[in-house]
Amino acid sequence: MTAIKAPIDRGRFSNKTVFIMAAIGSAVGLGNIWRFPYVAYEGGGGAFILPYLIALLVAGIPLLLLDYAIGHSQRGSAPLSFARLSRRLEFIGWWQVAICVVIAVYYAAILAWSTQYVGFSFTQAWGDDPEAFFFRDFLHAADNTITLDFVPAVLIPMVLIWLVAIVVMALGVQRGIGATAVIFIPVLLVAFGALVIQALTLPGAVEGLQTLFAPNWAALADPAVWASAFGQIFFSLSVGFGIMITYASYVGRKIDMTGSAFVVGFANSGFELLAGIGVFGALGFLAQASGAQVADVVAGGIGLAFVAFPAIISQAPLGALLGVLFFTSLVLAGFTSLVSILEVVISAVRDKLELGRVQATLIVTVPIALVSVLLFSTTSGILVLDISDYFINRFGILLAALVAMLAVAWGIRRVPAFAEHMSRFGSIRLGRWWVALITVVTPILIGLMLVLELITAITTPYEGYPAWMLGIFGWGVAGLALVAGVLLSIPKWKRTTPMEAPEHDEEVIR
Ligand code: ALA
Repeated sequence: MTAIKAPIDRGRFSNKTVFIMAAIGSAVGLGNIWRFPYVAYEGGGGAFILPYLIALLVAGIPLLLLDYAIGHSQRGSAPLSFARLSRRLEFIGWWQVAICVVIAVYYAAILAWSTQYVGFSFTQAWGDDPEAFFFRDFLHAADNTITLDFVPAVLIPMVLIWLVAIVVMALGVQRGIGATAVIFIPVLLVAFGALVIQALTLPGAVEGLQTLFAPNWAALADPAVWASAFGQIFFSLSVGFGIMITYASYVGRKIDMTGSAFVVGFANSGFELLAGIGVFGALGFLAQASGAQVADVVAGGIGLAFVAFPAIISQAPLGALLGVLFFTSLVLAGFTSLVSILEVVISAVRDKLELGRVQATLIVTVPIALVSVLLFSTTSGILVLDISDYFINRFGILLAALVAMLAVAWGIRRVPAFAEHMSRFGSIRLGRWWVALITVVTPILIGLMLVLELITAITTPYEGYPAWMLGIFGWGVAGLALVAGVLLSIPKWKRTTPMEAPEHDEEVIR
C-alpha cells in the first residue's frame, strides 16, 4: 500500500527532551499544587501512599502508555487516531475534545485569578479577611444566583491569559508548545523549589508535615479514598482526555515512548510530593501563627490558594516573596497544562477540516476564550467552576477512559499490537503484564470506582447545591460532552485525509 502523504503538516516536537518537557508541562498543573496535598491529607495522610501508588502503577502509567500507543501509532489528534483504529470509535476522540473544552474554560479563569494574586501579594490587597476579599471584593460572587455583571479585576487578567495562550498555540507544536515547556518547566522547578525551602524554614512547618504524613490506616477502608486516588492520578497525569494521544502523535518513530512514560509519571508524582511538603509546611506555620490546629486550617483548591495562602503571606516573614513564588508557580504550571488542553481541540479541528495552524487556533480559541471570559468575569463563575470541575472529572475523564480501554481491548482487540509497537523502540518492554492490566484489571477497577461515584453523586447532592444547578452545570455539562462527541463524529472525513496512519518519517531522532 502506498502511504498517502498527509495533506497538512501537523508539526512535531524536535526531539525527545522537548517532548518529555511538554508532557511533564501538561501533567504538572493545578492538580499537583492545589489538589494533591488536600486529597492526600483527606485520604489518610501517610497511608494514602498505598492507594496512590497503586493508582499510579495500575492505572495512571498503564493508561499513559495506552494514550501514547494510540497517538504514536496512528499519528493523529484524538478523533483522527480513534477513527483510524475504527470509524465507530471516533466519538471517543471527540468526547475527549469536548471534555477539554470544558476544562479549558475554567482552567483559564484560575490562571487569571492567580496572575492577579501575584500582584496582590505585594500589597496584601486582601487585608485582614482573605476569604471575604476573594469572594466578595474580588469575584463579587453571588450566593447561588446567576447574574451577569462584569468584574474588571477578573476580566483584564483573563483577556491577558487568553491572548498569550492564542499566541503560543498559533506558534505551533515546537515553537509554541515545546518552547514554552522548555522555558517554563525549569523556571517552575526553581520557583517552587524556593517556595518549599522558604515554607520549611517557617515556624510550625514540622507540625504541618507531621499532619500530612501521619498515617490514618482506617481511611483505606473507605472506597471513596480509593476513588479519589484514581481521580487524582488521571487528572494530574493528563491521561484519558486526549492530551497524551495528541502529544504522542508529534513524536518521531524511534523515540523511546515506554521509558518516557515512566519518566513523566514519576516526575509528575515527584512534583506532587514536593507540593504536599511545601503546602503543608506553610499550613503548619499558619496554624501556629493563628493558635489553631493544622487540621483546622487545612484547605484544598480555591480555599487553599485564595484564602489560606493569602493568610500565610500576610503573617510570614518575607510573605510577599512567598506569595510571588506560590502564585507564579500556579501560573507557570497551569499555563503549560492549559496549552496541552487547548492543543487537543486545535489538533482535532485541524485534522478534520485540514486547516492551517493559525486558522485552526483562532477558530478554536476565540470561542472558548469568549465563553470563558463571559462565564468567569461575571459573578456566577465560581459556582459553575466548582460543579463542572467535579462532574467532568468523574463522568467525563474517568468514564471516557473506561470506554476507550474497553473499546480498544475488547472491541477492536488492539492491545497486543500496541504492546508490540511500543516495545519496538521502547527501553521498557510492554509484556503480558501491560496487556492484562489494560484488558482486565484496570477496567474493572475504574468501573468499580465509577459505580461508587455514581451512587455518591446521586445520593448526596454535591456540596448541597440546588438540584437545578447540579443538573445544568454538572450532569448537563458532562452529558453534553458525550453527546457532542457522538454528534461531532458523524461528519465524514475529507477524501484527502488518509484513514491509515502515514508512515513515520525516517528522521534522525536525538
Ligand atoms: N494535569 C493537569 C493538572 O494537573 C491538567 O492540572
